[in-house]
Amino acid sequence: MISYKELGLVNTREGFRKAIEGKYAIPAFNFNNMEQMQAIIAACVETSSPVILQVSSGARKYANQTLLRYMAQGAVEYAKELGKNIPITLHLDHGDSFELCKSCIDMGFSSVMIDGSHLSYEENVELTKKVVEYAHQYDVTVEGELGVLAGVEDEVSSDHHTYTEPDQVVDFVTRTGVDSLAISIGTSHGANKFKPEQCTRNAEGVLVPPPLRFDILEEIEKRIPGFPIVLHGASSVPQKYVETINKFGGALKDAIGIPEEQLRKAAGSAVCKINIDSDGRLAMTAEVRRVFAEKPAEFDPRKYLGPARDELKKLYMHKVQNVLGSENKA
Ligand code: G3H
Ligand code: 13P
Ligand code: ZN
Repeated sequence: MISYKELGLVNTREGFRKAIEGKYAIPAFNFNNMEQMQAIIAACVETSSPVILQVSSGARKYANQTLLRYMAQGAVEYAKELGKNIPITLHLDHGDSFELCKSCIDMGFSSVMIDGSHLSYEENVELTKKVVEYAHQYDVTVEGELGVLAGVEDEVSSDHHTYTEPDQVVDFVTRTGVDSLAISIGTSHGANKFKPEQCTRNAEGVLVPPPLRFDILEEIEKRIPGFPIVLHGASSVPQKYVETINKFGGALKDAIGIPEEQLRKAAGSAVCKINIDSDGRLAMTAEVRRVFAEKPAEFDPRKYLGPARDELKKLYMHKVQNVLGSENKA
């Protein structure tokens, strides 16, 4: 059993309290390799932002659980070396079983998500409560989920949103004891969040997706005032990356994300954790494709992963400064 406290990590409790009071959201960036980790830490140190390093079960399989844990430990030291001891949380994203959550807690994660949103309500309550009871013994915080996001959530996929039912939230948080709640208000995972036919065109001809259901968010906030809310599927799918990818041989079709103004608005509410994975994937892929196309003789991975890492850092700084509002909150 390794305590996250020995690794210099923090749970989400204090950070979420400050984020709600201060009307900003803490970035939760997914990572599975060194360059992503370096970009996340460098960006958050430079902007003095707290950060949640987020690992999916797929990422854990990809990178190896032990290596990832050492990388998170390394991230804490790396941040100090860069000049700022920012609060860093190591979080399991979309945990799908008690065993996986327990394994992460035992290995030094400071926060876990148990995603029982695809189960029946009663099964979700039961599983989430079991994880909370275990996690809280070690002062590890737990995120639960109510409502189902459209699209693919890990290995489970759903064609339609099942928006979070505000009337269930009091019962869910009371009975489970969770520390934060992920909700479904119209976001979804991946780079294809909306079909073009769902969107309208603005004066510049840019596709504008239907707005998030802020009415549902408000109802939830009324029922559990001050309780930390989490927004998954919050990538904005910057069109500059989509265009670069497609210009240099990619084939991304109808890639549409959540407009940044909507996320800024959400960050000012009880939403205090915003999950971003796909935008980082797009930024890296765009840069790698650009280097491959412009310098076909290049075969040193540092020459394409380096520019990809630089672009990622820029993207993360932009999110912190202009979307989440977590700059100078470390
Ligand atoms: O919510 C899903 C995250 O974007 C993680 O995706 O399961 O492909 O690592 P992944
Ligand atoms: P995106 O696919 O929109 O980046 O969402 C990531 C996420 O919710 C991770 O849990
Ligand atoms: Zn998610």
